[in-house]
Parts: sequence; C-alpha cells; structure tokens
Amino acid sequence: MTSLKLHTAIYSLIMLSLIESPLIAQKKFNSSPTLHKEGTATQLIVEDKPFLVLGGETGNSSGSDIRYMKSVWKAVKALNLNTVLVPIYWELLEPEKGRFDFSLVDSLIKDARQHNLKLAFLWFGSWKNSMSCYVPAWIKKDYKTYPRAYDKNGIAQEILSPFSPNNLQADIAAFSALMKHIKETDENYHTVIMIQVENEIGMLPDARDYHPQATRELNGEVPKELIQHIQKNKKTLASALLKAWESTGFKTSGNWEAVFGKSLATDEIFIAWYFAKYTNRVTEEGKKIYPIPMFVNAALNRPNVKPGDYPSGGPLPHIIDIWKVAAPAIDFLSPDFYNPDFKHWNDLYKRNDNPLFIPEIRFDSSVYAKVFYAVGHYHAMGFSPFSIESAATPEHQPLGQSYNVLTQLSSLIAAHQGKSTMNGSLVDKTIPADTLTFGEYTFTIKHDYTLGWSPDAKKDAWPHGGVTIIQVAADEFMIAGTGVVITFSSATDKSRVGILTIEEGTYNDSKWTPGRVLNGDQSHQGRHLRFPAGHIGIQRLVLYKYK
Ligand code: DGJ
Repeated sequence: MTSLKLHTAIYSLIMLSLIESPLIAQKKFNSSPTLHKEGTATQLIVEDKPFLVLGGETGNSSGSDIRYMKSVWKAVKALNLNTVLVPIYWELLEPEKGRFDFSLVDSLIKDARQHNLKLAFLWFGSWKNSMSCYVPAWIKKDYKTYPRAYDKNGIAQEILSPFSPNNLQADIAAFSALMKHIKETDENYHTVIMIQVENEIGMLPDARDYHPQATRELNGEVPKELIQHIQKNKKTLASALLKAWESTGFKTSGNWEAVFGKSLATDEIFIAWYFAKYTNRVTEEGKKIYPIPMFVNAALNRPNVKPGDYPSGGPLPHIIDIWKVAAPAIDFLSPDFYNPDFKHWNDLYKRNDNPLFIPEIRFDSSVYAKVFYAVGHYHAMGFSPFSIESAATPEHQPLGQSYNVLTQLSSLIAAHQGKSTMNGSLVDKTIPADTLTFGEYTFTIKHDYTLGWSPDAKKDAWPHGGVTIIQVAADEFMIAGTGVVITFSSATDKSRVGILTIEEGTYNDSKWTPGRVLNGDQSHQGRHLRFPAGHIGIQRLVLYKYK
C-alpha cells in the first residue's frame, strides 16, 4: 500500500468511527428518505414522517472549506433552517481518476448532525450552470477522451458533450462512489435527505451541441419512446414540443428535423433529450446504490429570448415532456427563482407528476412572505433561498421568524398537504387582493396597506404579504403569515359571517398555546383578521354565521 493510500484508509476509518460515534448522539432509522403521494401533494418522508424542507442553499464555494462553513452553520441556525443545500464538487471529490477524497462530505455530515440539521447535496458533476467548471482537472485536460460540446462554428466549449459515453461513465463512477459513501455513513441516520443531480443544465451559446456525434444523432431516428409519448399525450403536450411537432403535420417517424422541423426549437428539444438521458443514467446508477429522492433544477428562461441565449434544453416547462420521458429516475424538476414571476413559474412546475420544491430563490426581502404562499398554496415540499449565509445579521432576518412559525405548524401542514383544507395567498402592490374558499367560508385576503393605515402605503413598492391558511375544523382556522388583512363572507348562503374569536399564540407538539385575544382595535372591532406588514405570526380564528 502506498503511503497516500494508507493515509486515506486511516482517515476513512477515523471519519467513519467519528460519524458513527455515540458521542454525536443520533437516533437510527430504518427506512431511507423517500417520496409519498398524498392527495394532490407529494411529501418528502424522513425518519418515517413528512418533512417540510425549510432550507437555504449555501454560496457555491462555501462547502469547499470546512472552516468557512462554521459561519454558515451559525447563520442557518439563527435563521431556523432545518436543511442546508450544499454542493459536492466533483473536482475535489475525485482529484485523481479513481481516487476519492470524502473528507469534505464527512465533515459536512458530521457538522450537520452536530447542528441538528439535514442536508441536501448538490452534485456539481458534469454541469454547473451549463458549464463544466467542476469536472476534475484530469478530465478538463484530457479533452480527447472526455470531449467537449462544440458551438455551431465547431469551437469547443467548456461544457462536456452529453453525447460522449466516456463523459457519462466518468460522471457515473464519481456519483456512484459518492452515493456508496453516503449510504455507508448515513444510511441509518438520514442526515442527507435528497440529492440534486448536476446544476442548471443547459447548452450555450447555441441551442444544441454541434459535436459531430451530436449531429449524427440529430440525423438519426427520433426514439420510439418519445414518438409513442407524444402520440399518446398530444392533448397535454408541453407548448414548444407541440408547436414544433405541429409544424411538420405531426410526423411520427424520421429524424429529429423530419419530425419536429428545422428550427431552434427542435435543437432545444433534441439537446434536452440527450441531457435528460445522460442525467437519468447518472441518477439511475446512484439510486441503485442508495435510492433517496433525486431532482434537477432549472435556470428559468425569459420571454422572447432564444434557446442558446438562455441555457437550452434544461428541465424547463415548455419542454417538460422530454425530461419526464427521458429521465424517469429523476423524481422532480425544480425552478430556481431569480426573476419576479413567482406565481407563473410555480403554476408551471406544480403538476400531478411534478411536486413543487424550490431549491433556489434570490435571498431578497420577499422570501419571508413567499414561503407562506409556497407552502400554503402549492403545498411545496420545501423552500430554500440562495446564498443563505450572506445576510449580515441573520438573527434579524424576517425569514427566521417565518421558518420558526412554519416549524411550529409543520405537523399540521403535513396533515393538510394534498387536501383542500390548506391554501395560501401572496399579495403586493400589483396584485393586492385574493379570495380563497374553505368549506362554507370565503376569505378575502388583501395587502395590509390597502387599509391605508400605514404611511408606507403611499410608497411605490409594498413589501410582499403572504399567508398559509389551514382549516382545522368547519369553523376553525390556523393562519400564519405577514402583511395581510382578511375579511370573511359566506360561500354557501346569504348568511353573514362574524368573528367569534381570534387568538395569537404558538403551536407546538400539536398543542395550541394562546397568547393575546385579538379583539377591539386588533380586529377592527370584529371586522377583520390582520397581520400588519413586518409582523409574522400565527393566529387561531373561529368564525360563525348569523342572519
Ligand atoms: C443559479 C445557480 O444554480 C447557483 O449555483 C448560482 O450560480 C446562482 N444562480 C447565482 O449566483
């Protein structure tokens, strides 16, 4: 044994015994994290219970230095997170072909356990924001064995070609080693609850790879499984796919351009298929070793921007069928939010075959309200602002209060996921009102500033208001949120609806502990329920009807 190998072996033994050490008290669990369909929702099951990810993603480079991570753990605890999304970098995991260094993985798992946190690992493998900057140097330099994608002028890009079996095998080998290691160290403890495979896949600067192998595939037959899918699902096909197929009069055989036409849209459909197939193979092999939930994330495209100007062929709604058919091992596709159209994209990603999980959203001043909407309205599995350690004073971030409140309610939320007894609203200056119905009652949810009571109501921009509403009995509701005012009417008859009681309070271990009874000025003498802008909390409401 060389001294390097001996060193690695000794290191692994020490780390394994440390991670397994009873000093780091951990309960053992039998079943691995998994997904469970519950009504219209999908729940992430961890330690045999539904688990709502109140998460945050670290900055890209944070996980490469365990000392730097100290400040991350501190920040995320102050923000009341239960899960950290953190990258695993291929270049650091496999610095030499076949030699793996799990020291960062082990330290992350150990530190997460010490902080009573769960982890979602982001596999920065073949692709990270289209590019292949995280592939190891031995791959970067050996471009003959591990070929690059070409642009339309035949210029090689710093992007591994998805058409190369060598690239795929190398990624599979590394990802499999990672999953084997996670299984060995964490199978009984479930610190690592899910895996994102690759990061924001998509081709740049053209809509497809122009490597000669890619062009050969473009001129080959469209795979039968895709043809069968589009024939069977013509009525519900994703928009770009349907439009491209329509352009050839719905041809059902031939090469990609014969079936979908010669266009950038076809280039995107084609490259999406090969990206999805490749990522599916990586995921499939990882799951053979340790089958925990695995997903991919997407850089959202902007209207009127051509594929290739945005990362072409990523897991995007306008080509979602391609990803669903080519990548069945991937459990769900997720949006990354760096643009304002929160509702629009969530509506596209939340489907019967695709639960909503938000792995990235810009950590701006709206996240603390948006999380109530994501959880309440979309029954999202989780929410995770990006660069979570970046707040100067995390203990003062309102997101920490939103997460605190949602942690209190998490068992109640789980009990109502997938049912019509839970819903949510998001309001701002542009969309200041929403209505929701729960059984016999209609709720009119307006932005707090519509009252005109705050001098800030005159400002150009309003902070978002957001709310999660849970109907716990016919006339009783648990409401959590911020910046909204809610009034009530009958959804079923001409009765008038009155407020019997509103209490603020806390909810723990399925027990409500009331605080103040909110009446008088706090309910506008019985007219409304209100969370003033900037205030975050839980209120218990009981309604009644009268004539
Ligand atoms: C989205 C990516 O997925 C992240 O890794 C990061 O690069 C952010 N964009 C922006 O910094």
